[in-house]
Amino acid sequence: MTTPVPLIEPLVIPGSLHGPGGERFIGFSDLCDAVQRGIWGNDDFCLDPERRLEAYRHDDYEERHVFLARSDGRLVGCAVLDVPLADNLSTCYLDILVHPGHRRQGVAKVLHATAENHVRRLGRTVIMGWSEMRLPAIPDPEVLVPGSGAGGYPKHSAAASFALSEEYDLAQVDRISLLPPSTAGLPAHDTDGADGYGMVFWENRVPDGLIDRYAVLRRFMSTDAPLGDFVLEEEVWDAERIRADEERHVAGGGLSLVCAAVEKGSGALVGHTVLHSSRKAPFVAYQEDTLVLRGHRGHRLGYRMKAPNLRRLRDEWPAVERLYTWNAAENSFMLAVNVELGFRPVGATAGWQKKLR
Ligand SMILES: CC(C)(COP(=O)(O)OP(=O)(O)OC[C@H]1O[C@@H](n2cnc3c(N)ncnc32)[C@H](O)[C@@H]1OP(=O)(O)O)[C@@H](O)C(=O)NCCC(=O)NCCS
Repeated sequence: MTTPVPLIEPLVIPGSLHGPGGERFIGFSDLCDAVQRGIWGNDDFCLDPERRLEAYRHDDYEERHVFLARSDGRLVGCAVLDVPLADNLSTCYLDILVHPGHRRQGVAKVLHATAENHVRRLGRTVIMGWSEMRLPAIPDPEVLVPGSGAGGYPKHSAAASFALSEEYDLAQVDRISLLPPSTAGLPAHDTDGADGYGMVFWENRVPDGLIDRYAVLRRFMSTDAPLGDFVLEEEVWDAERIRADEERHVAGGGLSLVCAAVEKGSGALVGHTVLHSSRKAPFVAYQEDTLVLRGHRGHRLGYRMKAPNLRRLRDEWPAVERLYTWNAAENSFMLAVNVELGFRPVGATAGWQKKLR
């Protein structure tokens, strides 16, 4: 018996989960969760459909195009294209997910062909994507190493085999680390102000008086973290984009705690660190962006921002049991700070890139 070729159809992002198209979106969201559970064995990377819907709404900065694969009427896979609209206009991000019960039947191959054609129609020339793996990896005698020479990813894993078969290059490897907040190694006292730097804190919404200075940090975040072989340009960030980003996060039930470092003499913001969690999944949090501007490195500001923000997490989000973070394998300074705080490796992310000819 031959496996039927899956049928591919676009998913229209609905206005709400309760109106037309809502049920289809929930089916798509359940599929994404099934793939995440297959990788992690828990719900730490699942998203409830309300939150996913907020993240998928088009805005002035990016739009999402989703294709669904059906086999015998059942939803078996999806391709999600994330298309930046304000910068990086030659690129887009592609995620292909196939239900664990329907693998090795050519579903990803058909989805990829559809998505790549769509990318060409949009006039984009670079496709990027990520795959995640939980440790311990299945032993693989062959490991792919990116151009930086840092980190590795099993060559015969499903994701690597698939990416290589579609002519992607391994552009970067990230370490995924985990910290149960109750075990964090935090100092008894902060060293705030000792050498001309102070800390400011906010939740969810940056104060109006700091927003333009925060926009500078968001802009540099897009180029100052190690980028491996990815062909990324600086992102355009201003007050309007920050507010749109914050509103989208909060509308989906998201929560954030931000700490920024201030140079006291000039009042400039010179670094920041962000923690995310959500009302619907208060047991898990994510250590997101951390940046110290180049001229201000060497003062342990990374640690001095992260440690008090972690203390806030323990006080304000006491239900968080697991805190995850991602760092480029070549980012030795940030990795050292995270190890000092108590983070331990639990997985790896491979960053894939294909330049269309
Ligand atoms: C990677 C993934 C999308 C592959 O989906 P799939 O539908 O099983 O893939 P296909 O059946 O279309 O396989 C296409 C080609 O990929 C390669 N491949 C896929 N899975 C493989 C595996 N487990 N071992 C070896 N090669 C594999 C093969 O070259 C295959 O061609 P072949 O069957 O003619 O040999 C799926 O395993 C998945 O959803 N993984 C979790 C999410 C993820 O990592 N996404 C990929 C981001 S790059």
